[in-house]
Amino acid sequence: MDLLEIRQVTKVFGGLTALNEVSFHVKSGNIHGLIGPNGAGKSTMFKNISGFSTPTSGDIFFNGHSIKGRKPSEIAHLGVARTFQETTLFQELTVLENALVGAHKRAKTNIFSAIFNLDRHIQQECMEKTLSMLDFMGLAERKNQLASELPLGSQRALAITIALASEPVVLLMDEPFAGMNPEETRHMMGLTEKVRQSGVTIVLVEHDMKAVMGICDYLTVLNFGSLLAEGTPDAIRHDAKVIRAYLGNTEAM
Ligand SMILES: Nc1ncnc2c1ncn2[C@@H]1O[C@H](COP(=O)(O)OP(=O)(O)OP(=O)(O)O)[C@@H](O)[C@H]1O
Ligand SMILES: [Mg+2]
Repeated sequence: MDLLEIRQVTKVFGGLTALNEVSFHVKSGNIHGLIGPNGAGKSTMFKNISGFSTPTSGDIFFNGHSIKGRKPSEIAHLGVARTFQETTLFQELTVLENALVGAHKRAKTNIFSAIFNLDRHIQQECMEKTLSMLDFMGLAERKNQLASELPLGSQRALAITIALASEPVVLLMDEPFAGMNPEETRHMMGLTEKVRQSGVTIVLVEHDMKAVMGICDYLTVLNFGSLLAEGTPDAIRHDAKVIRAYLGNTEAM
């Protein structure tokens, strides 16, 4: 089943067409890669899916319903979560506190009622869910460390934990492997697979071709805002158009 359908999406910024009539489908249960050279329009696509930006034309369907023009909070509530290309952690809070901020959003209560000890049973439930989520993501032992003290791999795992607190159906991940060494990348690939196994469909924007080819079921390739190719990792790896677009970087493929 197609969980997400991008239909002829165009996004124009002034004179620049960042997305040009792009269409693709994401199947439920897949890890779907959205790849392409710098400036291809990948993050712009994520912003349009998650409601932080609205397509100039075209439409976006989630579970068969148009979500175009809806607010980010509404889209998140429907089940679309995202992690950002840039880090969005509260550096001066602990791992547990960061994760609790995410959990409180879901529970429609807030961190202040936690501080003042209101809604006690909701707080209790949030705490239990958050601790089990941190355990699932391999962060239980770091729960009292400050976010600023975490190694890169754990910072990214925490950002995913926060996104998962909203219990999403689809998770949009923007460059989760960026800047990682091979060991961190392997660990993050394992976590991504584990999240998919838990029932979350994943759309992955990433430049690390080894990771993309190793983990994705299907790929959509953008170039200069247009759809360049789509197919299985094996088909994409041998696609002449894709190799040309990545010229100078073909070793990675
Ligand atoms: N808010 C904006 N205003 C004007 N131009 C923008 C805006 N956001 C993105 N762009 C432009 O749209 C194009 C696509 O940018 P986008 O960030 O989507 O690329 P990307 O594929 O995510 O690239 P990267 O791999 O470098 O992250 C770029 O030319 C960028 O400069
Ligand atoms: Mg980007």
